[in-house]
Amino acid sequence: MGERFKNRVVIVTGAGTGIGAATARRFAAEGAAVVCADIDEASAQAVCAEIAAAGGKAAACCVDIRKPPAVDAMIAFTRSRYGPLNAIVNNAGMGAQKDFLDTPLEMLHAMLEINVVGTFICAQAAAREMAAHGGGAIINFSSHSGFLGSSGRAAYAASKSGIIGMTRVMAVDLAKHNIRVNAIAPGPIDVPRSRKQHVDERREAWQHAVPLARYGKPEEVAGVALFLASDDASYVNGQTIAVDGGFTAAGLRVKDLRVL
Ligand SMILES: NC(=O)c1ccc[n+]([C@@H]2O[C@H](COP(=O)([O-])OP(=O)(O)OC[C@H]3O[C@@H](n4cnc5c(N)ncnc54)[C@H](O)[C@@H]3O)[C@@H](O)[C@H]2O)c1
Repeated sequence: MGERFKNRVVIVTGAGTGIGAATARRFAAEGAAVVCADIDEASAQAVCAEIAAAGGKAAACCVDIRKPPAVDAMIAFTRSRYGPLNAIVNNAGMGAQKDFLDTPLEMLHAMLEINVVGTFICAQAAAREMAAHGGGAIINFSSHSGFLGSSGRAAYAASKSGIIGMTRVMAVDLAKHNIRVNAIAPGPIDVPRSRKQHVDERREAWQHAVPLARYGKPEEVAGVALFLASDDASYVNGQTIAVDGGFTAAGLRVKDLRVL
């Protein structure tokens, strides 16, 4: 067990699976007390059990990030269980794809409600708690779709671009409270959900489009969340860091430059 985050208290939302679970495990492995928050309580409990079995400290909390009273209860639970909050990773989110002309308004509303409103509610509640205890770090989750116009992602991109803008403003407004706010924009990450949903053709397209020619691992995103929450990032504020194998850095990609 590492000691880098010893005596630090961290909430990870959406910690029941995928990137959130890997992030919770990593913080715990570095010595943090972690609250694994998820709308799916059983999955959060399973991750906590794994962390405890590895010698770490974690407690599960059932929360719907869209509901302010539930989020306030999550903050109060964290305080009573482990003490003042040092960092929150606002990882919980949803994605879906539809051609723009077929995108129902309900999809846009649902996406904004979870990704933007949910992140806003959690960040605000966490920031109030951190401001009362000397500061902290907030890490939000955007996406490569927050930067680029990938097909079928009007609703998702609206939410994930919104998070980039909101992160900048939070960073500016919260700096006086010694709270840093940054975001992560993952590329394609190999999580149970994408393993189930991505058909072979889509996987091949991704592998061609990403300069590193592979999906990322959840642990590779967790490492960046850990860095952003750490003192090593003490002068990093208001940024959205792509963790995408170079996908958003790339332009035209052809295998043989002679065909250009
Ligand atoms: N996996 C990728 O390839 C990828 C790419 C770009 C961005 N992202 C972003 O990274 C984050 C994590 O992605 P993932 O693929 O691990 O997600 P996932 O869909 O595998 O898991 C999301 C978790 O959030 C929880 N959740 C959903 N709605 C919630 C709510 N209202 N309240 C509380 N918890 C809720 C779910 O129960 C689940 O455990 C998301 O914000 C996603 O948009 C992921």
